[in-house]
Amino acid sequence: MYFLRQLNRFLHVYLSILRHLHLPLAFLTGKKDRPIFIGHRGASGYYPENTILAFDKAVALGADMLEFDVQQTKDGTLIVIHDPKVNRTTSGKGYIKNLTYEEIKVLDAGSWFDPRFKGERIPTLDAVLDRYLGKVRLLIELKKPSLYPDIERHLAEKLRERGADQLGDGQIIVQSFDRRSMQEFHRIFPAVPVGVLIKNRPAGISPREIRGIAQYASYLNPKVTLVNKRLIKRIHGCGMKTFAWTVRDKKTAGALLKMGMDGIATDYLDYLTKPGPIEKDRGR
Ligand code: G3P
Ligand code: CA
Repeated sequence: MYFLRQLNRFLHVYLSILRHLHLPLAFLTGKKDRPIFIGHRGASGYYPENTILAFDKAVALGADMLEFDVQQTKDGTLIVIHDPKVNRTTSGKGYIKNLTYEEIKVLDAGSWFDPRFKGERIPTLDAVLDRYLGKVRLLIELKKPSLYPDIERHLAEKLRERGADQLGDGQIIVQSFDRRSMQEFHRIFPAVPVGVLIKNRPAGISPREIRGIAQYASYLNPKVTLVNKRLIKRIHGCGMKTFAWTVRDKKTAGALLKMGMDGIATDYLDYLTKPGPIEKDRGR
C-alpha cells in the first residue's frame, strides 16, 4: 500500500513537471497525436462545395479545419469558389475576374449539386471569416492568384484587420500551388504560415526541392498519391508539416491515418472520424 502511494505521488510530481515544461503527453506515452481532419471545400462529398452549408456540415461531422478556395471579383471582392469561372458550380457563366460582386451574389451555388440545395450562394471571404474564424481552423487556398494582381496583399489586409497574427499557431494557413504567390504572401504577412501544394508527378519531390520550399513555407501539402513515409520524414526533417489531399475512399483514409501525416483533407469526414470496415464507397 505504502509502495503504491509513493508511486502515485512520484507519477503526480513527474506529470506536473512535464506539464510545466509544456511537454506533450505523447512524449510519455510514445503515442502520436492524430492528424488534423480537414473538410475539403467543406463537407463537399455530401453538400455543394465551398458553401456555408457545406462548411457548417463539415464542422458538425467533426472537421478540425475547413479548406476552401479564394478568387477575386472584377470589383475586388474576395469570394469563396474553386474554379476561375462560375460555370461548373453555379447558375451563371463567365470568369469571376470579369463579374462584379453584385452579379455574383445572386447566383445559385447549390442546384448543380442537387435541387434540394437551391438558393445556396457563393460566400464572400468576409462571411466565412465572420462565421468561423477562431472557432475552427481555416486552410485558405489562393486559387490561380496570377489572375488577380495583388490578391496576396488584399488577403493579408483582411486577415490582419481580424487579428490573424494574434491567433494560435496553425489556426489559419494560406496555401497555393503558386509558389511565387506564397513567397509574396509570406513576405507581406509572415505571421500567418503558408503552405505549398504539390500535384502528382511520377518523379516525386526531391530533397533539394523540399529544402527550397522550407525557406518560406511551413507546410508542404502533396496530393495523396505522392505520400509515403520517406516523404513525410523528409518534410518533417526540413521543419515543415504536411497535409495530404484529397481523400475520397475509405481504404486511403485508413492507410493515411496510420502514416504520420499532420493533416488529411477529405470530402468525406466520416471516413476519418469513423474509420471502420471498408464498405462500398460513396466516392466520386
Ligand atoms: O487542399 C488542397 C486541395 O484543395 C487542392 O486541390 O483542386 O481541390 O483545390 P483542389
Ligand atoms: Ca482547394
